[in-house]
Amino acid sequence: MIDHNFIEGWLFQDEDELLSKYASICNGNILEIGSFRGKSTVILADVLKEPYKVYTIDVHAPIDYYELKTDDTGMPIEFKATGKRNVLKYHNCKMFYDNITKCGLFDKIVLIGLPSQEAYKVCPFENIGLLFIDGNHNFSNVRQDFNNYSKLINDDGIVIFHDSNQDDIKRVIDGFTEGWKVIENCMTMTVMQKENK
Ligand SMILES: C[S@@+](CC[C@H](N)C(=O)[O-])C[C@H]1O[C@@H](n2cnc3c(N)ncnc32)[C@H](O)[C@@H]1O
Repeated sequence: MIDHNFIEGWLFQDEDELLSKYASICNGNILEIGSFRGKSTVILADVLKEPYKVYTIDVHAPIDYYELKTDDTGMPIEFKATGKRNVLKYHNCKMFYDNITKCGLFDKIVLIGLPSQEAYKVCPFENIGLLFIDGNHNFSNVRQDFNNYSKLINDDGIVIFHDSNQDDIKRVIDGFTEGWKVIENCMTMTVMQKENK
C-alpha cells in the first residue's frame, strides 16, 4: 500500500481501511465528491483495479468561478460567475496535484474542478461502482449529492458517506435514501447498497 500518511485530511485509520476494502473490490470507476488535498483519493486509487479511474469532484480552482444563490430552504437556485481570486483553493489544488503525483497515481485520477451541483450536468460519468460523498456537509448539499449521483451507480455499486455522525448527514441517510440500505458503519462512515442486492 502506498504511504499516504503525509497527506493532510480528516480520516481515522479504520476509515482508511474501510475505503481501501471497498475500493479493492469495486467493479467500475469510483466517483468521489470532495478531494481536498487528495488523501482519500489516493487511498481509493491505490487499490482500484485497472483500467478503472477515480473521478474526484472539488471546487478547487485558482478563481472562484461560481457564487451559489439558495432559496429559503437552502436549495441552490443559481450559480453565477464571479471571477474572484481564491488563494486557499489554489493552494489546495496545487497540493492535490503534488500529492497524487508523489504517490504515482496521476494517471489513475481525474479531478473535476466544479461544484458537485454542476459537475453531473456536464460530465458523462459512466460505470460507477463506488460513490464517496465527502463534499459540502450541509443537509441540502448532501441530499442533492446523493440524489444527483446515486442514480449513476451500477446495480451492485455502493455509496459511502463520510461524517455520517453529523446531524445533517444522518438526516439524509435516515430519511432521504429510499431504495438503499445500510450495510456497514465504521467510525464516522456509513456504507449503503441498493435494497434489492
Ligand atoms: C472534508 S473535505 C474532503 C476531504 C477528503 N475526502 C479527504 O478525505 O481527504 C471537503 C472538500 O469538499 C469540497 N467542497 C465543498 N463544497 C463543495 C461543492 N459544492 N462541490 C464540490 N466540492 C465541494 C471542499 O473544497 C473540500 O476540499
